[in-house]
Amino acid sequence: MPSTEHAASPGLPPGGERRKIDLPPPGRERRRGEHRAPLAATRRPSAPVRDSRETVVEFRGVSKLYGPGGVGLERATFAVRRQEMVFLVGPTGSGKSTIMRLLIKELEPSEGRIRVAGRDLDTIERKKVPYYRRNIGVVFQDFKLLPTRTVYDNIAYALQVTGASRKQIRSTLPDILRLTGLSTKLHNYPHQLSGGEQQRVAVARAFAGHPPLLLADEPTGNLDPETSIGIMQLLYRINRAGTTVLIASHDNEMVDRMRRRVIELKRGRIVRDEASGLYGAREENTDELGERLKRETT
Ligand SMILES: Nc1ncnc2c1ncn2[C@@H]1O[C@H](COP(=O)(O)OP(=O)(O)OP(=O)(O)O)[C@@H](O)[C@H]1O
Ligand SMILES: [Mg+2]
Repeated sequence: MPSTEHAASPGLPPGGERRKIDLPPPGRERRRGEHRAPLAATRRPSAPVRDSRETVVEFRGVSKLYGPGGVGLERATFAVRRQEMVFLVGPTGSGKSTIMRLLIKELEPSEGRIRVAGRDLDTIERKKVPYYRRNIGVVFQDFKLLPTRTVYDNIAYALQVTGASRKQIRSTLPDILRLTGLSTKLHNYPHQLSGGEQQRVAVARAFAGHPPLLLADEPTGNLDPETSIGIMQLLYRINRAGTTVLIASHDNEMVDRMRRRVIELKRGRIVRDEASGLYGAREENTDELGERLKRETT
């Protein structure tokens, strides 16, 4: 890939940089701090050692006004550190998707400052935005899969547009398919998949480039409870492997059961920002989480 793309990266590893994805199998995940973080991969030998808890996302006094009376976000201030898994909750229209859309620079803030991996988003030129976006995987409620392409091709296409070679795609895809439990479905078209499987493809596609930051906007909004557990487990596994994950969700019960940090919004304002009581306690592995979620889901 051209070196200009490296220069365009906002301090995150270039999205086009492909390497074999090294994900631990379930039950053998790395502990916090043990992960080989993507951000660390770009550290120059002379650069100071970064705190593994460094800030990946920072909003400072961010407002988004959508024209007269349309408040998307009002003076929101929060920071998300590397490898956190954070839930954005709040009623419809409270500003969850606005935060996601600001992060991918689909929207510009009316005031305030947004930084991602230390880079002020305001300093990224419009034409460099596609390169910036390669660092962020995005999962939507309605999957947004390409209907005329197979599972394999949907994921391969996402890698292809970031400049990955066929060879790189061929070596990366089996890992992604295995991680997301899609190995037997690779020749299926989206309409031949269940909702949960389609969402798995969407997660696989978002994660294919191994982005340091993954955003999921209502990833379980259209799924039944059992399928939702599978998707949450998948996002948890991705998080434990070193990716910072931000999830917008209406499903308060699921969010409570996940025992992660919760940021609650109301009419564009942050009204609660709570770390889970479980912080610092022994971490569950993905299987343990899945078992517990099933037990606690009535
Ligand atoms: N393009 C737009 N033009 C005008 N107002 C908008 C626009 N997009 C969002 N809004 C308004 O901004 C506010 C926040 O919307 P946002 O989509 O962020 O909410 P949300 O928390 O994601 O809601 P939901 O749970 O329904 O997805 C809402 O009042 C919404 O009507
Ligand atoms: Mg929304």
